[in-house]
Amino acid sequence: METGWHRSQSLGSAGLRLHVLLCSSLLLNALFIAQKFLRTSPPPTAPERLGDGLSWALQAAKEAEDVAAVDCSGHGSVFLDGVTGEYGRPGCECNSCFSGPDCSVRTPNCAADAQSGDPLFLEPYWMRHAAASTVVFSGWHRLSYITTDGHFNSVELDRQIRRLHRAVGNAVVDDKYLVFGTGSTHLINALVYALSPEGNAASPPASVVATVPYFAMYRSQTVMFDGREYRWDGTTAAWANNSSRNSTRDFIEFVISPNNPDSTLHKPVLTGSSAIVDHAYYWPHLTHIPAPADEDVMLFTTSKLSGHAGSRFGWALVRDEKVAKRAISYTEQSTVGTSRDTQLRVLKILEVILANLHGKEDIFAIGYDVMSSRWRRLNAVVSRSTRISLQKMPPQYCTYFNRIKEPSPSYAWVKCEWEEDDDCYETLLAAGIISLTGNVNEAGTRYTRLSLIKTQDDFDVLLERITEFVDAEKHGRAPAASSSM
Ligand SMILES: Cc1ncc(COP(=O)(O)O)c(C=O)c1O
Repeated sequence: METGWHRSQSLGSAGLRLHVLLCSSLLLNALFIAQKFLRTSPPPTAPERLGDGLSWALQAAKEAEDVAAVDCSGHGSVFLDGVTGEYGRPGCECNSCFSGPDCSVRTPNCAADAQSGDPLFLEPYWMRHAAASTVVFSGWHRLSYITTDGHFNSVELDRQIRRLHRAVGNAVVDDKYLVFGTGSTHLINALVYALSPEGNAASPPASVVATVPYFAMYRSQTVMFDGREYRWDGTTAAWANNSSRNSTRDFIEFVISPNNPDSTLHKPVLTGSSAIVDHAYYWPHLTHIPAPADEDVMLFTTSKLSGHAGSRFGWALVRDEKVAKRAISYTEQSTVGTSRDTQLRVLKILEVILANLHGKEDIFAIGYDVMSSRWRRLNAVVSRSTRISLQKMPPQYCTYFNRIKEPSPSYAWVKCEWEEDDDCYETLLAAGIISLTGNVNEAGTRYTRLSLIKTQDDFDVLLERITEFVDAEKHGRAPAASSSM
């Protein structure tokens, strides 16, 4: 049993130990704090500032300019997200038919790839306007699903799109709702869905149709999403005079104006039906503008307007509120609206376009010069041929330029005229030209499409191969197939 003295002795030494422990802990803490804040850590460096007070955006700006400054001999580009090369930085991505670390090596006998509608012809324009068109995102830019006031769409972008249509005079916007999409491709099915009868057993599915030759995506998407409400039902020719087209069945007609592939202006042919009029190319650099378009449902895209296909942004102008709401609901269900980053980028691009309209750096005037010159040069060569022909396009009055202009189509629609060339795609392929067969848009194999909106390198190689092809005619032979195919 413990005595009182022993207890007070042991209590006293325990108190002393506790005191020592407490003091040493305090001392250690004080040392730690002093070391952390007074001795080893220098004061945080003030961010580097430019004269106008920039700080955190500088590093991003430097990175962007560093890659843009890499020399790719005018035949390629470097991108911030390109594949990291041997120096730990992204290297040049070369245009087709060019290679080497700086894209300076021309591939001999290279095939001309004119298949896709990749709208790179405006890349030099945006390089010239680097300062005005660059956007810097902070790491916290619009993290939210919501953009403004509970909406998924940028109110400011909506305003600028309307301003642009009014200024260009290519669409009536005042009585229309705007629906944003991840490229106009996203809106193809959104609009078919919005125009279809709400699925119930009483109403047959809507018939989705288009006129030959048409953009193949309408068919492939409709077939892919085929449901109770709608189905792909072939071409308008089959229905225009068909008595079974009666009022119990809904028709949704796709119309492209100017058309892809033949670049001519089109109107709906099935009167009394719903129409989705795709105006992807209805801008003054790619067609003449006779009047503002004013259909009930219209589609547009930045891809062919400014060349920003990779940003994936398109919009629909819709007159009827109920149809617009159904299309918006489709986009909200499928993607919860379009990318907030993209919306900011497109806003900037449209501001640059608007600021330069009718000026020295008008994108439409500059784009028109490029495209009309390509068409003129291609025509000059093909007009010497009996073997192939192009669509006929007369000069037309354009309200935007306020004058008659020569054509500037996005695509050449080639017909093979010689009997033996019944597969025009194969005929051109044998001459080192990759095109898009008319089979994909139900026009048949006599026709094939050449894209004219790719890079200048692409066009130059295409013109070389076509010239060889036409020159070979007078010797009654096809040019030898390219070795690089
Ligand atoms: C007529 C037409 N509509 C829509 C599109 C697709 O555009 P986006 O890039 O906006 O999806 C294209 C692309 O070539 C097209 O030719």
